[in-house]
Amino acid sequence: MALTTTPFGTRATAAEVLDGVDLTGHRMIVTGGASGLGAETVRALAGAGAQVTVATRNPADAEPLIKEFPGTRAVALDLADPASIRAFCDDWSGPLDALVANAGVMMLPTRQVNTQGWEMQLAVNYLGHFALANGLRTALAAAERPRVVVVSSGAQLRAGFDFEDPQFERRPYNPFAAYAQSKTADVLLAVGISRRWAEHGIAANACAPGFIHTKLQRHLDEATMQAFGAMDAQGNLVTPDYYKTPVQGAATTVLLAASPLVEGVSGSYFEDNQESEVVDGGPEVMAGVAKWSVDPVASDRLWEYALPAVR
Ligand SMILES: NC(=O)c1ccc[n+]([C@@H]2O[C@H](COP(=O)([O-])OP(=O)(O)OC[C@H]3O[C@@H](n4cnc5c(N)ncnc54)[C@H](OP(=O)(O)O)[C@@H]3O)[C@@H](O)[C@H]2O)c1
Repeated sequence: MALTTTPFGTRATAAEVLDGVDLTGHRMIVTGGASGLGAETVRALAGAGAQVTVATRNPADAEPLIKEFPGTRAVALDLADPASIRAFCDDWSGPLDALVANAGVMMLPTRQVNTQGWEMQLAVNYLGHFALANGLRTALAAAERPRVVVVSSGAQLRAGFDFEDPQFERRPYNPFAAYAQSKTADVLLAVGISRRWAEHGIAANACAPGFIHTKLQRHLDEATMQAFGAMDAQGNLVTPDYYKTPVQGAATTVLLAASPLVEGVSGSYFEDNQESEVVDGGPEVMAGVAKWSVDPVASDRLWEYALPAVR
């Protein structure tokens, strides 16, 4: 089937993607919405008229956004904590037009676990969003054309989901492999929702924002930043040409959350505002979505693996 294309290029901003789109009356949630790409996602959606709930560990962090957009509110959510996720879902009432699963952590230097014993990058980036989406499914189903967007990463090209040892209990912990696996799991989550909840009219897609300086890189040491081409030998941040600004980095997310251009598209992966080709993943591949990230069998297996953890 032909890939979905849009007129928006790599440098389009989130506001440009939503130019002319009226989201008045639409209720949306953005996790990790108080900083970085999440904050720009909130700005674009709220700027187009949506009532946005900023789901954030520390609601005070969202105060500037709430001042800017009085229709916006902040609610506490810690994706590493099942009780916090349950409380968030219990607090929600009424239809939900879009859930944007944007929050994430990258490359925690040592293996950490959440209260359920899940490796922390997998717990926050994937499992927390899996639980949240399941807790909000009825609210999504009550909306007219509900959408779920899972913010993944080009890192999904680097590692499939390791069903033999997903929690790094037997293999040595590797911060990047754990991040990459969690981002593959994010795409598999969108594929799983798309397969299972289509009967409720819920569409789900994943995306990669590109490379953007944000506080996501806070756990990286100088040597890693330099290896990524994001820091010079003196420790100054470097911005390579292919880097985006945060407003550009949020563009593909808002396209999937709210643009009529992708109405009816589900189970796909987008980057630079276009649907991506399915490719073989590997260490050198720079674009596309890996076969292992959209594999329906892996998606079903991961869903079954995660389900007991959220019951
Ligand atoms: N920046 C890039 O180059 C890039 C590239 C590819 C993919 N991405 C993806 O883009 C998304 C947004 O990242 P970003 O670059 O905007 O970085 P960011 O500014 O660090 O945003 C990440 C957000 O996730 C939140 N978060 C972390 N742990 C959480 C938890 N346990 N519960 C709830 N929220 C939690 C953070 O909240 P706190 O403020 O409380 O920590 C923060 O608001 C992530 O999923 C990331 O993987 C980014």
